[in-house]
Amino acid sequence: MVDPRIIVALDCQNENEALALTAKLDPSLCRLKIGKELFTATGPQLVEKLMRLGFEIFLDLKFHDIPNTVKNACIAATRLGVWMINVHAMGGKKMLLAARKAIPIEKTRLIAVTLLTSMGPSDLNDIGLYEAPEEIVQRLALLARDCGLDGVVCSALETKQLKQLIPDNFYLITPGIRPIDSATNDQQRVTTPRQAIENGSDYLVIGRPITQANDPLLMLQRLTAEINIQKVTL
Ligand code: C5P
Repeated sequence: MVDPRIIVALDCQNENEALALTAKLDPSLCRLKIGKELFTATGPQLVEKLMRLGFEIFLDLKFHDIPNTVKNACIAATRLGVWMINVHAMGGKKMLLAARKAIPIEKTRLIAVTLLTSMGPSDLNDIGLYEAPEEIVQRLALLARDCGLDGVVCSALETKQLKQLIPDNFYLITPGIRPIDSATNDQQRVTTPRQAIENGSDYLVIGRPITQANDPLLMLQRLTAEINIQKVTL
């Protein structure tokens, strides 16, 4: 079975826009990430439609609530048959364990968000957290691992450290990817697809470099080739 490493961020406002874009993509080369904006606008029907077209879906709804509510939300997402869902590690051990229990292993991958990359040191101080962001990220990643989750979303800068900390059977999913000749847009800390894979990312979330390319399929093919190319050591 093919296991594409690229997850295209479908940051669209409505179904027509999403379908027009996905018509230019190839499900054997990518999966799709549907977040709060598109899911709130279109509901599960669009998820089902895209799955019927052959795409596997990462439902990026970042659940964070009391354990019972998160458990039931995870059950609902699993029933949809999506490939991956996520929860906030900040929801704590009981919530993470409830989420894990709700989802049969092997069915839907369950990953955690550690710290939102929008949270800088002063934002963390505002909510009573005084450790360095990297320490918080590592602690939350270990908590997610200990609760049986399948991996975490992490910034390209955290990948190397996290791969060393948890080397096996733990997916690292990395946004903030920019091909060498792409605009960085509003992303501050970016890496190329190749660099991200070399640093230990398992899956790359890529939005605008593909969705706003003149030819999204050609860009997807180019980035897939860049990732798959064997490194030649002389
Ligand atoms: O267009 P771009 O490649 O910047 O899109 C990246 C996607 O990854 C967006 O959907 C964005 O919300 C998401 N994301 C991110 N940084 C995080 C977590 C998620 O860019 N730390």
